[in-house]
Amino acid sequence: MEFYSNHKLLFWSALVFFLFLTLQIAILPAIQNQQVYQPLPDAKPLTKAEQAGKDLYVANGCIACHTQQVRGIDQDKPFGSRPNIPADYAMNQRMDVWRNTANLLGSERTGPDLTNIGERQPSVDWQLLHLYQPRAVVEQSVMPAYQWLFKEKDYLEKGDIEVKVPEKFLQNKFKKVVATKDAMNLVAYLLSLKQLKLPDGTKPPEFLYKQKEKAAATGGGTALPDGGEIYNGNCVACHQANGEGLPGAFPPLKGSPIVLGDDLKLYVTIIMKGYDPRPQWATMPNVGTAANFTPEMVTALINHERSSWGNTAAPVKLEDVKKIMDEIK
Ligand code: HEC
Ligand code: HEC
Repeated sequence: MEFYSNHKLLFWSALVFFLFLTLQIAILPAIQNQQVYQPLPDAKPLTKAEQAGKDLYVANGCIACHTQQVRGIDQDKPFGSRPNIPADYAMNQRMDVWRNTANLLGSERTGPDLTNIGERQPSVDWQLLHLYQPRAVVEQSVMPAYQWLFKEKDYLEKGDIEVKVPEKFLQNKFKKVVATKDAMNLVAYLLSLKQLKLPDGTKPPEFLYKQKEKAAATGGGTALPDGGEIYNGNCVACHQANGEGLPGAFPPLKGSPIVLGDDLKLYVTIIMKGYDPRPQWATMPNVGTAANFTPEMVTALINHERSSWGNTAAPVKLEDVKKIMDEIK
């Protein structure tokens, strides 16, 4: 057969076959994907700062421990309100001529998924402190401290963003920790990570393999959700599991006059709308509104806080909380 003795014919046939396959299994499907999957209506391109933050995320190897994909299975529910769909990634572009698309889906979850971290933890203060020293906010964290994103200074200058670090975690008690531009960019990128709404009428895919819902605890006839669980899901990152907060950053709820006091309206307002009257503490974001707390959830949460960590105050009533939530809406 000529094919086996004519090396030119063999070379050209192999090349043509190779190019044909490349077109069929790589190039045409990629073009088709780009046509089919359009970004969601609310998708915005990253700002310059956010893009710089994304590059830092890549450069610092955050992807080694964090994914950005909410899978369609029940155990991924804490990471987003719906499973991710291809359109969620349609805004991703090549990083530059040399480097391919950084979609950062990841394949390893030593830490939590970050698809929706901008919703789950919108506090810049918390993010900065956590990057400076993860163990300051999460005692058992194995995440590395990214201290090269911060500077130590003798005194603050105009425009400096001070990180509220509890004294125990300072390398030098007499210095102030200031976030560099890199730290601010990285946090800007983290806060830009939010799961977008699907266009009206589009049903998201379902979470599969549902685990059994826990039966609601019943107390005094009305079924309230588990206040401890709500605390762990929404407040523990700052006020800590022992309710003692973090000195210099997040105030204690143990023994707090607001938690134990009678000004229910202020208490509910803090939970729903956030709080920032005192410069010595960081800023509390509008945790309750962001997480769509119902009056039942707020009541259960308040009663949990009023009766934990040695706090002893009478439980509050659902009707009163409901009334206040209608008022402050
Ligand atoms: C060695 C693994 C590891 C690396 C590398 C790592 N992380 Fe983490 N990360 C974790 C773990 C474990 C947690 C959970 C404990 C905690 O909050 O510190 C976490 C938590 C987080 C959280 C809070 C998530 C939540 O739901 O509360 C954010 C935000 C975060 N990491 C961002 C980053 C960024 C940005 C980088 C890169 C600069 C990074 N991580 C690198 C392991 C890692
Ligand atoms: C991102 C961090 C953060 C999260 C999450 C957070 N808080 Fe706060 N909280 C703060 C900070 C900071 C303050 C103090 C603000 C100030 O005084 O300027 C505060 C203050 C409070 C106070 C007033 C305490 C006092 O004695 O003055 C209450 C009550 C409170 N938070 C309840 C909650 C509850 C309930 C949740 C969960 C739904 C929650 N917080 C989630 C940061 C946080």
